[in-house]
Amino acid sequence: MPDTAKLILGEKSYDLPVITGTENEKAIDITSLRNSTGYITMDSGFMNTGAAVSNITYLDGELGILRYRGIPIEQLAEQSTFVETAYLLIYGTLPNKEELGKWSQALTENSYIHEDMKHFFDGYPSTAHPMAILSSMVSTLSIHNSWALKPNLNEAEKYRMFVLLLAKMRTIAAYSYKKSIGEPYIYPTDNFSYCANFMNMMFAHPSRHYEVNETLVKALNLIFVLHADHEQNCSTSTVRLVGSSKSNLFATISAGIGALWGPLHGGANQEVIEMLEQIRDDGGNVKKWVEKAKDKDSGFRLYGFGHRVYKNFDPRANIIKKSANEVLDALGIEDPLLEIAKKLEEAALSDQYFIDKKLYPNVDFYSGIILKAMGIPVNMFTVMFAIGRLPGWLAHWKEMVEAPDFKINRPRQIYHGPAINNYIPLDLRK
Ligand code: CMC
Repeated sequence: MPDTAKLILGEKSYDLPVITGTENEKAIDITSLRNSTGYITMDSGFMNTGAAVSNITYLDGELGILRYRGIPIEQLAEQSTFVETAYLLIYGTLPNKEELGKWSQALTENSYIHEDMKHFFDGYPSTAHPMAILSSMVSTLSIHNSWALKPNLNEAEKYRMFVLLLAKMRTIAAYSYKKSIGEPYIYPTDNFSYCANFMNMMFAHPSRHYEVNETLVKALNLIFVLHADHEQNCSTSTVRLVGSSKSNLFATISAGIGALWGPLHGGANQEVIEMLEQIRDDGGNVKKWVEKAKDKDSGFRLYGFGHRVYKNFDPRANIIKKSANEVLDALGIEDPLLEIAKKLEEAALSDQYFIDKKLYPNVDFYSGIILKAMGIPVNMFTVMFAIGRLPGWLAHWKEMVEAPDFKINRPRQIYHGPAINNYIPLDLRK
């Protein structure tokens, strides 16, 4: 394979370096292109643009491969926990016993949010979308942690920020739910695991007995592990972009939450359940909805289907489908939405339109069924995605700010507006 690519522009030819990844992925390095030729490259939607050389996650969309730091997602889903996976993503290796103990302890100790912050929750109406509360509250954390607002953090300060965000985002999410249903906030409990603590803060009540269900804790761990990173997706790219201005990490993560909220990204898990409910209320005729998704004029898409990079299957979807079946069986729940989801999947996968366009269920297609079985309200689904994706955002931010070629992210454009124009005073305008 050549280690340079040749670009011919008119009479001249230019050699551009080729970069090769661990799994033999190839990129043409165009960094010097503008200086040597005056040209930029154009790739609206970043369909074919590499924004980083990264050591974090490997993904092969054709073969359905996903690995965090080299470890297949199937192994992590089976054997790891979210807390351990977060460390792996951020620090590059699985933690030893001592590192894991320290990491878990720090997460527990950082679970509490400043008492003053509880008053901020009171200002939100109970109808506020929890993603709005989450992004604002993560940004608000900065006012109690002014030490972290400087542009460069040392190793110890980064560690402190990572555990702070991982621990507190979960508490903020649970408080926003309690606020929305008018129940008292439940404090984190030191002797619970990360996921058990979250479940307890969500569903315990001072005057009711609540016992954390281990099947649900296991399923929640799985969902978080599967969402923990997905290389240069929209929200992670947002985190890299915002972080590249040396904005503080609270503001940077808050921006990532905003990007995740959209229905084409993390917001799809909410859309999936709402779509399945609509299909159920409409009589359950899945073929009719598949036809509607194919009709461009309908403005309707099958949420939870299709992916920018997966063109064969999404390995996370396979794992999560199996887990959805297991969770519902273990809880003795018969959810008609699961049956509709399976029928819809079958109808879409055997339809020529979906086959031709290589559209398969993605991670969001079945995750909502499990979240619903846990009692998580639908408008909290994207918040769950955000908690899960946080380690990935932190890992990418760390990798970017520590890279020797660190630069503010600033794309270029081709201007297509009017050529030079004169200002017309208001009374002379038509
Ligand atoms: N239902 C019907 N048609 C679809 C769908 C769908 N879900 N997804 C893509 N298509 C069609 C699309 O109309 C287009 O057709 P044509 O080539 O005739 O114009 C073609 O397939 C390619 O789609 P695209 O939108 O150009 O592909 P993309 O790579 O830009 O977008 C996507 C990927 C995920 C945004 C898109 O598949 C989609 O909107 N899916 C539904 C939303 C969803 O489930 N999002 C969650 C993604 S997974 C979680 C995450 O990582 O965020």
